[in-house]
Amino acid sequence: MTVRRSVVRGTGSYLPSRVLTNDELSTLVDTSNEWIVQRSGIRERHIAAEGEYTSDLATNAARAALDNAGIDAAEIDMVLLATATPDHTFPATAVMVQEQLGIAHGCAYDLQAVCSGFVFALSNADAMLRAGHARKALVIGAETFSRILDWQDRTTCVLFGDGAGAVVLEAVDGEGAADDRGVLSSRLRSDGRHLDKLYVDGGPSTTGTAGHLRMQGREVFRHAVGMVSDVIDGALTDAGVEADAIDWFVPHQANKRIIDATARKFGWPIEKVVVTVDKHGNTSAASIPLALDIANRDGRLQPGNLVMIEAMGGGFTWGAALLRW
Ligand code: UT7
Repeated sequence: MTVRRSVVRGTGSYLPSRVLTNDELSTLVDTSNEWIVQRSGIRERHIAAEGEYTSDLATNAARAALDNAGIDAAEIDMVLLATATPDHTFPATAVMVQEQLGIAHGCAYDLQAVCSGFVFALSNADAMLRAGHARKALVIGAETFSRILDWQDRTTCVLFGDGAGAVVLEAVDGEGAADDRGVLSSRLRSDGRHLDKLYVDGGPSTTGTAGHLRMQGREVFRHAVGMVSDVIDGALTDAGVEADAIDWFVPHQANKRIIDATARKFGWPIEKVVVTVDKHGNTSAASIPLALDIANRDGRLQPGNLVMIEAMGGGFTWGAALLRW
């Protein structure tokens, strides 16, 4: 049976040039390189320059992805941008990216699922392509979390960074089998009983300000591995694929200990795990497409490989998707 599949044609990413190290942070708040590395695995992160916005990061990543795919911007008929740090309350940052790329047809919109944003956006784009609403989509994760951090709060400001990643998806006909290329399955979840564990204390309808990120880190940590394991299991079951068939695990990059524990649970050795958290910190919705681009460009991701992505974040939201590269 012919089934439409969303196949990754190219990847791209962008990191602001300014690198903020743990040692530099320890001059701002009461912390140390040792504490940050031991608890999170983070060594440095990138910070957007003054006047450099989420739309700029996203557009740079999108251009790199189009270039990598060998696809002209004019062929793109959907731009889906996952972000919790849009340039403005509206219009959607995706429309700004669309405009900067010179695209005036198709649709562009933002999707907000915080750190799970890219998994939600990929699943959403896949559904749109499969339903025939678009043929070629740019799916982007882009964030400037540095703008919503409380730089006096050592429990959060050491963990996050800025960046963007993008993939170009194209709708192609597959056989409906697990050896098709493209997105094979995805599972998305949310549970608002955990709203107070990770949130921003402002917004257009409440304070009229952007607000600052607040997190009960230990509580998030406690739920993370179990929640992402559930959706990984679900994505494997839906595709009829066993865990040991996975070639690459590309998790959300929040904490190396969460990544290691999840990989261990599924029996994936560290050589099969793409890790960027040491260099990027937690870039929220940007972390997975950034990691995909790095592993794609250095030759780890090869056509035909089975790739599992997963994320969990504010809400809580969490999700996983299985792709054949
Ligand atoms: O993207 C998805 C959302 N985010 C996450 O996935 C984050 C999930 N959580 C985590 O990654 C970890 O919980 C953290 C890295 C945030 C914290 O690690 P932890 O092992 O859970 O540490 P903790 O929060 O239990 O704090 C341990 C101690 C505390 O001191 P006391 O109460 O034991 O005296 C903290 O006050 O470390 C202290 N502490 C710090 N010390 C030095 C907290 N932040 C810092 C800091 N530097 N930056």
